[in-house]
Order: sequence, then C-alpha cells, then structure tokens
Amino acid sequence: MSLNSIDELLPLSQLGFGKYYGKYMIEATHKDGQWQPWALTELHKFEMHPGSKTLHYAQEIFEGLKAYKQAGGISMFRPDANITRMSLSAEYLAMPPYPEAEFMAGLKALVHKLAHLTPELPGSLYLRPTMIGNSNSLGVAPASEYLFYILACPVGGYFGDVSSDKPATISIWISDKHVRAAHGGLGAAKTGANYAASLRAVAESKKLGFTNVMFLDAVERRYLEELSGMNVFVVDRGVLKTPPLGDTILAGVTRDSLIKIARHLKIEVQETPIAVDEMLKSIASGSVSEVFACGTASVITSIAELGWRGERIRVANGQAGPVATKLYQNLCGMHAGTTTPIAPEWLVKCK
Ligand code: COI
Repeated sequence: MSLNSIDELLPLSQLGFGKYYGKYMIEATHKDGQWQPWALTELHKFEMHPGSKTLHYAQEIFEGLKAYKQAGGISMFRPDANITRMSLSAEYLAMPPYPEAEFMAGLKALVHKLAHLTPELPGSLYLRPTMIGNSNSLGVAPASEYLFYILACPVGGYFGDVSSDKPATISIWISDKHVRAAHGGLGAAKTGANYAASLRAVAESKKLGFTNVMFLDAVERRYLEELSGMNVFVVDRGVLKTPPLGDTILAGVTRDSLIKIARHLKIEVQETPIAVDEMLKSIASGSVSEVFACGTASVITSIAELGWRGERIRVANGQAGPVATKLYQNLCGMHAGTTTPIAPEWLVKCK
C-alpha cells in the first residue's frame, strides 16, 4: 500500500482533502508511564500487533487544524484550542494527555519542515495530531502504551473546489433514526468512535441524494446537534443561533471562532436549543434565511437543501446567505493574515 506521500506541491485542484501526505511526521511513544520526546521522522508505516487496543476497542483520539500561507510566512490558526481539546479527549478515552508545550513545539517543527507543501489560499496544510492505545492484551482496559503522531496533508476544499469569497453549498438529510451521541457518552470527545457512529447515517444520506447527515438529540430526537464532523448554525431574523455545547456535541474550534467573529461584527449570537420542527416552519415562513455548517476541514459550508421525513426543503434561494458569506470572508481574511484576528494568539507563526 502506498504512503501517498509527496514532497512537491500539486495544483490546488488536484489536492482534494487528505489524499496526499507530507513526507515527514512527528512521532512520540508513551512507555512505562511516561511520554518520550517527539521525533521528526519520514512518514512511515507502523508495525502493529494485531491485538493492539486501538484496533479492538477504539482507544483513539485525534485533532484537525490548519496552517496557512501568508505574506510574511506560514501561521497555524488557533493551535492552542486544538491542543487543549485533545487533552480533554484524552480524559474521555482514559489516555495520558500529550504534554501541551511539546505538542505545540511538534506542530511548529512539522509545519516548518513542510513549509514548501503549504498551498496558496484557499488551500492549507491540514495537520492531524493522533493518539492511539497501542498495547496488545485483549482485556477491555486502557492500554499501557501509546503512540502520538502528527500527520500533515496539503489540502484544498473538503467538499470539492473552494473559493475565499463564498462558502460552498451542500444538502443535508436530517435523520430521526440515527444517534451520534447520548449524555454520558463520548460525544464531546474527538475520537474516531464518534465518526464510526456516523458512517451508516452518512451512507444513508448519500443513498437519498444528500451530501451529509444532521443528527438530532438522542432523548427527544427533536433538537439539532451536529453533522458528521461539522457544527451547525441557523440565521433567524438576523440572529445567529447554534445548539449549546454539552457532552453530546463537539466543541468545534471553527464554531467558537465564528461566535466570536460574529459578536465582534455586532451580529447577535444565541447558543440555544433549535427544534427541527420549529426550524423547518421558520424556513417556510422565511424567518430562518440561512443554515450552514462549519468545521476546520470544511470551514463554512452553506446548506442549500434539507431532507426531513421524505420531504426536501430548500433554504431561502439555495445560495450561501449574507451572514455565512460575511463570516466566511472574515475568517478567511484571518487565515490569509489580511484581517486582524480577534486575539493575537489566534495566529501562531511557524516560519
Ligand atoms: C475537521 O474539521 O478537522 C474534522 O476533524 C472533521 C473531519 C474531517 C473528521
């Protein structure tokens, strides 16, 4: 199996998302109760015991963040937020958190090494820190050894072509029969298990002709939670609304950035439960004029059409709306280094 590693940048249109890997990675092991220092190595395959905990009991967590090419060098966007969230995910999965200062140093070193693989905007160098439980006894228990590594992929758009002017558009099926996460579970952790739990619903959404799926709460199957890998926002009479965080929703870094950017732009924001029936009524009456999704990989993606119990519902005129577009341009400006970030630490220079 090929490593799909590249050491020369391809045109943005060929990159896609996560298809090609930079030739280097960061790697560290946890043994005898301690993390060993990370090393910058060539991208390589792992030799694993077939009984490895991660393969059997899904003891795995990961992150996704991006580095952007700017006039004066290359900067990562809000890596501290991803580092903090990975420590939280480690707690959920009973794993030893990776030391945060070394984590940041590893990210910077990898981006510095792969600077030549960072595409021009709207492309970016996507960074994928990952941790797996890697000891091999088959008892259901936390591993005694761990592997932490960071991969880097030059990427274009998650849903095909991207532009810096306007979000892409997708269609979303709202499922009332699949559940992503329930209270007390892993919903707030960034673990592969949550993505595995979404795969069957995503497959069904595609069969029905949609791009992706929106999950509802596990108790009433009424309140919007999130998509498979993206948070959701609606614009209701000019007010930006998003479901409040809890233990069933991933605290998206892009979600948090958009809330802060919107408030900075004097757009009212409410983190409030959004009932699917009320949202659909408000789309029909015109008071909800925009629905969009966000995430590091996809940035902002406008939702043109929703599917619900056999019906297809168009949102406004099916184009990216003014609020999503304004937030998108503002966020992309920060990525490009042309718009002042909300806080200086949002951009961390690597080169
Ligand atoms: C991201 O937006 O970085 C994600 O992790 C979503 C998905 C690609 C898994």
